[in-house]
Amino acid sequence: MKEQPIGFLDSGVGGLTVAKEVMKQLPNEQIYYIGDSARNPYGPRPMAEVRKFTHQLAHFLVEKNIKLLVVACNTATVAALDSLKEELPIPVIGVIESGSKVATTTTQNHKIGVIGTLGTIQSKEYEKQITNLTEQTEIYSAACPRFVSLVEDDQFESELAEEIVQEELSSFKHTNIDTLVLGCTHFPLLQPMIQQFLGEQVTLIDPGVETAKKVAKYLTEHQLLNETEQKPKEHVLFTTGSAEKFDEIARNWLGNKQYIVEHVSLEEFRANDK
Ligand code: DGL
Repeated sequence: MKEQPIGFLDSGVGGLTVAKEVMKQLPNEQIYYIGDSARNPYGPRPMAEVRKFTHQLAHFLVEKNIKLLVVACNTATVAALDSLKEELPIPVIGVIESGSKVATTTTQNHKIGVIGTLGTIQSKEYEKQITNLTEQTEIYSAACPRFVSLVEDDQFESELAEEIVQEELSSFKHTNIDTLVLGCTHFPLLQPMIQQFLGEQVTLIDPGVETAKKVAKYLTEHQLLNETEQKPKEHVLFTTGSAEKFDEIARNWLGNKQYIVEHVSLEEFRANDK
């Protein structure tokens, strides 16, 4: 069991921001990742549809014998974390609880901003979890759906990205927030631009960092860490979209990590649908 891979799923390349943190914190672990770029974005889709897609991706990874699943997508966490926990025979970890916790311990003035997809923001899941932890916090939230396509299209360092960041985040300039949760796993790729626009007085929270700590803690407590001495096997990144495009973004983001990218046809999921 210890040598089995950890599974990650996302609507596209965004979950790589979480996977990268786990690669950093747990260099002995092998990662199996699936990004559903063919059906990206998930943000504007009805929650029932996101739940169905998320379960398809999860079952695909469970069949590959993963020991733990990370739902490395906020929208999928909102839609399917509870149902996956009920249905799957392995532990499942989402990203929202970790992000909410670290935001409440970071803020000094109790004014927190949250950005995410339409689905995540409309669900008010961050508000609920933050308010459960600390009642006196003012929360300002905004959906930034255009950030997702900038990242999927490998445009996150472009001038267009700079313009879009300014347009989408201008409302935060008047809020006096000191903490902003990047409540979509695609957003950390835009972190330098977001930081520059909002200024150093705003601390950006990447829930992926905290999620990786949670994964490490779980595996340690349950004696599931891979303790073999040899180098771990290479990571396997599956995408329902173009393998070349996925590889380009992954190369830029993951640097010299050892991995292979494989295309998966959506037909494979449909064949397994009940
Ligand atoms: N990366 C995803 C998230 O964290 C979703 C992006 C999308 O597909 O809209 O919510």
